Amino acid sequence: MLDTATAPRPPASGPAAGETILEVNNIEVIYNHVILVLKGVSLSVPKGGITALLGGNGAGKTTTLKAISNLLESERGEVTKGSITYRGENVTDLDPARLVKRGVIQVMEGRHCFEHLTIEENLLTGAYTRTDGAAAVKRDLEMVYEYFPRLRERRKSQAGYTSGGEQQMCAMGRALMSRPETILLDEPSMGLAPQLVEQIFEIVKAVNEGEGVTFLLAEQNTNVALRYAHYGYILESGRVVMDGEAGALRENPDVKEFYLGMSDEGRKSFRDVRSYRRRKRWLA
Ligand SMILES: Nc1ncnc2c1ncn2[C@@H]1O[C@H](COP(=O)(O)OP(=O)(O)OP(=O)(O)O)[C@@H](O)[C@H]1O
Ligand SMILES: [Mg+2]
Repeated sequence: MLDTATAPRPPASGPAAGETILEVNNIEVIYNHVILVLKGVSLSVPKGGITALLGGNGAGKTTTLKAISNLLESERGEVTKGSITYRGENVTDLDPARLVKRGVIQVMEGRHCFEHLTIEENLLTGAYTRTDGAAAVKRDLEMVYEYFPRLRERRKSQAGYTSGGEQQMCAMGRALMSRPETILLDEPSMGLAPQLVEQIFEIVKAVNEGEGVTFLLAEQNTNVALRYAHYGYILESGRVVMDGEAGALRENPDVKEFYLGMSDEGRKSFRDVRSYRRRKRWLA
């Protein structure tokens, strides 16, 4: 048995040094047997960290997350090369429900709540794989309401009538109800006002620190993602073009220019943006 009195304690937050929980090894994804979308993507997600998957429209962020959680089949997509491991075990072909049992859950882009159920009923559907009894589920509902006070206020409201921000919270809260070890979060900022985006990311940080949940999150909003993530990968046209500690990426001149909309000369004009592909050093 582990001697808790003398065992080294893991850090309260942030990735535990060196421990990789999820690994994507050089995967290729093809849609409809012909469209090659991911062209050899590799990622390493540390346990207990927040890792950001960045990139513009159509870069392949959602495809990467769906490849991990095995949700590509319904889209006529498949992983044709490479492998995905979770806690060292190959999960490349594991179906989504089994992956949830292993502790990995995806929160889809566009916050899919059941519109006709109340917020609380939605949250309870997240506990369907649990076998540890009603009392534990009730405790976790309380835990979700602590992180999302807004959901407590709205718990009796039909989800379809709540705001976009509340639905995003509902989708995240429902994922938390499965007691996940890792959450794959797709574009949590989509369509939300800046203040709400900030609130959502504050909650991601609180859940990461408070519950030790590992996050891999896809975001077009590089600015906010790099302020909350520990590490980032930038995808372009189905390839990782750059990766690094979040702080280093924020200071990188190319990232500043092309993803944060700033440069030493100030904001780029449209004309500059038009020629940006040519000037991207990493695409040379
Ligand atoms: N079901 C599909 N069938 C064919 N092509 C697809 C399918 N889904 C996505 N694609 C294509 O794959 C590429 C990557 O799409 P993906 O949705 O992964 O990008 P993304 O980075 O999540 O973009 P966004 O930020 O707009 O959500 C795009 O070119 C897209 O058109
Ligand atoms: Mg997407």
